[in-house]
Amino acid sequence: MSKVNIWDKRFKLFIVEDDIKQAISECAKKINKDFEGVTDENCPIIVSVLNGAFMFTSDIAKEIHVPCEISFVKVSSYTNTSSNGKVKELIGLNRDITGRDIILTDDIIDSGLTMFTLKEQLLKQGARSVKVCGLIYKAHACTKDLKVDYACIEMNDNNFIVGYGLDYNEIGRQFKDIYILEE
Ligand code: IMP
Ligand code: MG
Repeated sequence: MSKVNIWDKRFKLFIVEDDIKQAISECAKKINKDFEGVTDENCPIIVSVLNGAFMFTSDIAKEIHVPCEISFVKVSSYTNTSSNGKVKELIGLNRDITGRDIILTDDIIDSGLTMFTLKEQLLKQGARSVKVCGLIYKAHACTKDLKVDYACIEMNDNNFIVGYGLDYNEIGRQFKDIYILEE
């Protein structure tokens, strides 16, 4: 598909599956290196931010060859195509993370509010460290003082995208490629 229609908007092909997979594989190599030597007891916990990160987390996890746990949180901050400025926790972690290293994974880091808020919360809950990992990093849109430790794809364009977990009003998450809003 080179174009898709979702609700009232039209999107065109932007990043193809092969390029996404390649970028994820490079990112996973860095994680494997940074966490080399961890044991089952002290391994990192991947905390995936639902709904958007489901596909990304699943693919990057397959490339992580050090021991790791995988957990999920569910938050929401988006309505239509813009952030509403608040991060609402819909499903929490409900487990003890004291002294643990966390790798937070999300589909996209836009204003940075979601990752910034979650990182603060996890540190408050006693995490030893929190690394931020995004499939897409809209570096120019990020307004938070947030260190992005692993950015698979840096995007200079601030335009809205869908596919590979990313939605427009809940539609489009299942596409294997990423599409960008046509103007
Ligand atoms: P942030 O809190 O502004 O960094 O936004 C993060 C969340 O907003 C992501 O987890 C996405 O759910 C959503 N989001 C931001 N930009 C886009 C986009 O271009 N397409 C779809 N969802 C987006
Ligand atoms: Mg999301």
